[in-house]
Amino acid sequence: MRRKRNDCRSPATTDLQAACANGPVGEMDLDFSGKAALVTGSTRGIGLACAQLLARRGARVAISSRKADVCEQVAANLRSEGCDAVAIPAHAARDDDLARLVSGTVEAFGTLDIAVACAGINPSFDPLTDLSEASWAKVLDTNLSGPLRLARHALPAMGPGGAMVAVSSVNAGFAMPGSGAYGISKAALEQMVRQLAVEWGPHGIRVNAVSPGTTDTDMIRALKQRPGFIDRITADTPLGRIADSADIAHAIAFFASDHAAHVTGQVLVVDGGQTIMRGTYPENTKTGEE
Ligand SMILES: NC(=O)c1ccc[n+]([C@@H]2O[C@H](COP(=O)([O-])OP(=O)(O)OC[C@H]3O[C@@H](n4cnc5c(N)ncnc54)[C@H](OP(=O)(O)O)[C@@H]3O)[C@@H](O)[C@H]2O)c1
Repeated sequence: MRRKRNDCRSPATTDLQAACANGPVGEMDLDFSGKAALVTGSTRGIGLACAQLLARRGARVAISSRKADVCEQVAANLRSEGCDAVAIPAHAARDDDLARLVSGTVEAFGTLDIAVACAGINPSFDPLTDLSEASWAKVLDTNLSGPLRLARHALPAMGPGGAMVAVSSVNAGFAMPGSGAYGISKAALEQMVRQLAVEWGPHGIRVNAVSPGTTDTDMIRALKQRPGFIDRITADTPLGRIADSADIAHAIAFFASDHAAHVTGQVLVVDGGQTIMRGTYPENTKTGEE
């Protein structure tokens, strides 16, 4: 595999490479040199970690969220590291904004190779039948229609080798009190990814999704304050911790990279095993077979 050094790699990455240099396990060589990417919702949390990872591995990146000043600050920080980044504010549900995000990226970088639909919301914990029409519409508009609108603009702007990655959620696969519209929007998003993968495969463009479990970002700030919330999740997670944004960013980067050149229409769950474990026997329980 080709290995190219990048000026703006983080010190942590360099340490990891050094630590792994002589061992059996090495770091995947993610090289996005020459590629242009856009990431919706990239001023905080998973989107920010993803944009930083892509940029530090050589991609030219368009930073986007609703707040122009914050986008510019994130882009400026990346430029100060030697990365190539521009700020293009856009509401992730608005068609005009998303059209401008795509055309602005192509204008800035001359191409578009990677589109990450990361922005997503879960603003209401009401039961599904109590949810207002407005809340339902807002969640579906942002989490499902927004990525479709982005795809409509981004995929035709890409050439063969292009990749779109949508950020779903493990909530797509199970029902949870207070997460009705959100889970439905993400389940439909995963089906949309499969549909787009079929339609865009013949053009050499791949479409995949990453499905995070509970991830330590602002999105779960309110939940984290509930007593016992994190303890309960970590106890029910084989790997014993919630995800951080970098865990999810690496999975997104894999799908965006040429390492995934023959992978399309897939959903990669990144949850520390949260969704494959269902409780435990009480301690000291005997099986009955001695
Ligand atoms: N955190 C979790 O536990 C978790 C688990 C599973 C899946 N996810 C998914 O991961 C994705 C990212 O979540 P996160 O936890 O990183 O969220 P976050 O920390 O709350 O960050 C959200 C980002 O999206 C932007 N944003 C929010 N609404 C937007 C809109 N309408 N248009 C454009 N940008 C918008 C925010 O900036 P502005 O507010 O300035 O616009 C910010 O940059 C979402 O799709 C979410 O559903 C998260």
